[in-house]
Amino acid sequence: MTEDEQKQAAAEKAVEYIKDGMVVGLGTGSCAAKMVDLVGAMVAKGLKITGVPTSEATATQARNLGIPVVGLDEVNVIDLTIDGTDEVDPQGRLIKGGGGAHLREKIVASLSDRMIVIAEAKKKVSQLGAFKLPVEVVQFAAPALKPRLEALGSTPTLRLAKDGTSFTTDEGNYIYDCDFEKIDEPEDLALTLSTMPGVVEHGLFIGFADIVLIGTDAGVEVIEIADEPGG
Ligand code: 5RP
Repeated sequence: MTEDEQKQAAAEKAVEYIKDGMVVGLGTGSCAAKMVDLVGAMVAKGLKITGVPTSEATATQARNLGIPVVGLDEVNVIDLTIDGTDEVDPQGRLIKGGGGAHLREKIVASLSDRMIVIAEAKKKVSQLGAFKLPVEVVQFAAPALKPRLEALGSTPTLRLAKDGTSFTTDEGNYIYDCDFEKIDEPEDLALTLSTMPGVVEHGLFIGFADIVLIGTDAGVEVIEIADEPGG
């Protein structure tokens, strides 16, 4: 199976969880885009759902497919969010944000009853950190935050757009891609980054994933993530 076929297989399995009447968080990225295409085809056949897109790109894709989309002003609860990932570890902890949408993705995931993560096989890792951790920062703070991110043990690189200018997110912020090589204590790092003034959001998603669907040559691996004790 190619990586593309693995993504497609994971997306096909994920949409089986969508039921009529649901409010569905629609993720961002190439794997999520396959899921949105499938949802579009289901809506064309009569499925009634409401989508909450996690980026402008996904909103445009969904609208073009005829999926009704709303913002957070119009929904109280999101039943299910389906999104891709850049890495997932055995505890279901994620690194996201390769597509630069992790701020809205995390907000939507945080409002969702359930999050299903879909990915191709190479995204499953034993330890997080080989993928550079995206950290979204306000533009004003960017120069001051670089040395602070270095002090945490990373090599931060300001993300650039294709035209060589600074990449800006849907919310108008910059992203540092932080190379930690490996992240030994994701919870500690997440807390440190979350309390750093000027950091808007980081790509560590801890305690969000409920089900991880990995496309592999042997089929789709379904991983149910156990709740944290007391969580
Ligand atoms: C976007 C994301 C994506 O889910 C992540 O980058 C995976 O994308 P892809 O499926 O294209 O590899 O977090 O912010």
